[in-house]
Amino acid sequence: MIVTTAQLFKHAYGKYAVGAYNINNAEQAMGLFRGCIDSQAPFIIQISKGARKYTDKRMLEAIIRAAGDIFPDAIYAVHLDHGDEETCYDCIKSGFYSSVMIDASHESFDKNVAITKRVVDAAHAKGLSVEAELGMLGGVEEDIKVEDGHATLTNPTEALDFVKKTGCDSLACAIGTSHGAYKFKGRQSLHFDVLKQIQTLLPGYPLVMHGSSSVPKDEVDRINAAGGKMPNAVGVDPKEYLPAAKLGVTKVNIDTDGRLVWCRVHREFFRDKPGDFDFRPPGKIFMDEYAKFIASRNVLLGSANQLADLRKSLGK
Ligand code: G3H
Ligand code: 13P
Ligand code: ZN
Repeated sequence: MIVTTAQLFKHAYGKYAVGAYNINNAEQAMGLFRGCIDSQAPFIIQISKGARKYTDKRMLEAIIRAAGDIFPDAIYAVHLDHGDEETCYDCIKSGFYSSVMIDASHESFDKNVAITKRVVDAAHAKGLSVEAELGMLGGVEEDIKVEDGHATLTNPTEALDFVKKTGCDSLACAIGTSHGAYKFKGRQSLHFDVLKQIQTLLPGYPLVMHGSSSVPKDEVDRINAAGGKMPNAVGVDPKEYLPAAKLGVTKVNIDTDGRLVWCRVHREFFRDKPGDFDFRPPGKIFMDEYAKFIASRNVLLGSANQLADLRKSLGK
C-alpha cells in the first residue's frame, strides 16, 4: 500500500528512522519488498533521476506497481531522490509519487529558497510533500561532484530560516556524511552536536540523512578478494542510525550498500563459475542477499516490526 511520506514520518518521529532505499530494476525491487516484509518494516522507495533514465521511468513505475501486487502487506512511500526543478514537476504531475526532493543545495541560500518555494507550492497543490536540502554533503551524486573541501555542514539557524521561508516538509541536513563508498578519512562519526542544535530549533520537524550507507567491511573485503579494487572504502557506523532518529532524523538514505551487495554477489559468482553466463542464477542470489541486507538495516534503524502499529494508526 502506497501511503504519504508525511504519514510515515508522523509515525516514526523520535522513535525510529524509515529506511529510504534507491531502486533501479526488478531485482532490487524484489529484494527490497521481501526484506521489508520479512522484517515487518515500512519503507521509502527512492527513485533518482539516473534511475528514471536507466531503463525508462514507466518501466520503473510498472515494476513498483507489480511489487506492490506481489507484496500486498507492504506499506511504503515513493519518493523522487535529488530532483531538479523540472524533474520535480514531472513527478508531481505523474500522480505516482508520494513526495519529491528538490536539491538546490549547490545554489546560494537565496536561490535555494526561491527554487524550493516554487516546488513546494506546486507539490502542495497536488497533495505531495517536499524534501529540500541545505548544506552540502561531500561525494558524488549523479552529475554533481562535491570535493571534500567544499562540503559544508548545515547551519542550524539557516535551517530554521530556510524551513520558514520555503514551507518544505522535511530537510536533508549535512551532518558529516557523504555519498558513495568513501565517506570518512579521519573521524568516522556523525556531528550529533549540529543535529541536536537543528532539532532544538525545529522541534518535531522531520530531518533526513543522506549518504547513510555503512559500507560493511566484510562486504568490501569480499569484493576485493573477488577481484575488486576498493581500498579504504568506509561508511557510517550503523549503530549511529538510532541515536540520530531520536534527534529527529526520520529518513535515512541508503543506496551504495545495495550496490555493494550486488557487486559482491556477481563478482563471487563469476569468479567461482567462470564458464557460466546466465544472469538468473546470480540474480536470484542477489535478491536473497539484498532482502537479508534490507532486513538487517531495518533492525538497526528501528523500523523493523513497526508495520502492525503503523497499520493500526493508519486505520487500515
Ligand atoms: O544520492 C544519490 C543516490 O545514491 C542515487 O544515485 O543518481 O547514481 O542513481 P544515482
Ligand atoms: P549512500 O551513497 O551513502 O548510499 O547515500 C545514498 C543517498 O543519499 C541517496 O540520496
Ligand atoms: Zn542523497
